Amino acid sequence: MSAPLPAPASRLPNVGTTIFSVMSALATEHGAVNLGQGFPDFDCDPALVDAVTQAMQAGHNQYPPMPGAPALRQAMAAKMQALYGLACNPDTEITITAGATQAILTAVLAVVHPGDEVIVLEPCYDSYVPNIELAGGVAVRVPLTPGTFRPDFDRIAAALSPRTRAIIVNSPHNPSGTVWTEADMLHLQELMAPTHVLLISDEVYEHMVFDGQVHQSVARFPALARRAFIVSSFGKTYHVTGWKVGTVVAPAPLTAEFRKVHQFNVFTVNTPMQHALATYMGNPAPYRELPAFYQRKRDLFREGLAGTRFRLLPGEGTYFQCVDISRLAVPERELPESDFCQWLTREIGVAAIPLSAFYGNGFDQRVVRFCFAKKDDTLREALTRLSRL
Ligand SMILES: Cc1ncc(COP(=O)(O)O)c(C=O)c1O
Repeated sequence: MSAPLPAPASRLPNVGTTIFSVMSALATEHGAVNLGQGFPDFDCDPALVDAVTQAMQAGHNQYPPMPGAPALRQAMAAKMQALYGLACNPDTEITITAGATQAILTAVLAVVHPGDEVIVLEPCYDSYVPNIELAGGVAVRVPLTPGTFRPDFDRIAAALSPRTRAIIVNSPHNPSGTVWTEADMLHLQELMAPTHVLLISDEVYEHMVFDGQVHQSVARFPALARRAFIVSSFGKTYHVTGWKVGTVVAPAPLTAEFRKVHQFNVFTVNTPMQHALATYMGNPAPYRELPAFYQRKRDLFREGLAGTRFRLLPGEGTYFQCVDISRLAVPERELPESDFCQWLTREIGVAAIPLSAFYGNGFDQRVVRFCFAKKDDTLREALTRLSRL
């Protein structure tokens, strides 16, 4: 027998199993209410499932065109125009992706060359930095303002260099739930104006903005849109995270580069779901009603937590609620966030995600994140358990 092969030299030596998978597995093992990973525990609209069945029965079962089913790209173009006033050509400026995760990786691989710098604002979604590293780029981490998680434009300006290829922004923001204002977007626009820096705008929570605030899509700002990949996810909007279908809107020259990479990593995305989504998008009510749907859940969850020693951080958007744990009446409040979350899952029966998981250096600020995309009964059960603290 020949000797076993040595482990391959890792392209991503610092990456392990994501915290989301770890906490979900721990939640299952201990029968905990899983408010960790961000996905709904309720079903999507049955009409959407029917639309998939109908698409399959109508024979939409073979490869669609590489950029995505034309009907879905057209529906997306109509939506961008109606919601954000952006005219985009479905043939040359919209691509259907396997969710936002593949969209962001593909955008990064399409434009980042070895040695290029890409600015990320921490805390940030965990795929950004490994994506940049896979492209041979260098992630330049700029913190959002501690405590408020608002963008610090002085620090962003200071991070710009002649090697900066792109900046990745995310509003509404995971994990903090903050939402960029019009003033923030104008500030970004002003900062980028003298540069050739590209923008990757992760807008997967675009329809989860509360209290009458408006989602300030990059699509509303022509001087930003001309340099941007705008990323959305049907998984978040229609409660179908497992379908993994998203979109990228970008000007034609950027889309052309995007598609060169896209065609060799997935080529195209499952056909019946695309047809079903195109049909379903004919009615804007589901995404128009989403803010109210999630705002009610946010309020239910926040009202429950208000009676505990968790200190609530603002929740302007997304389906996440962050809380400060430093005033809890248990000694475990002193644990590092990550150990606290494991203890909370095992002993109290509620899974949460430590904010330190969203920082490269594991910055610990005594804050954890709960996901409230859950049935009311699930949220009530979690609140009963959390009230012991
Ligand atoms: C900020 C952010 N970006 C991207 C994604 C990935 O979206 P998708 O499931 O469409 O790949 C998520 C999912 O949690 C997210 O929170």
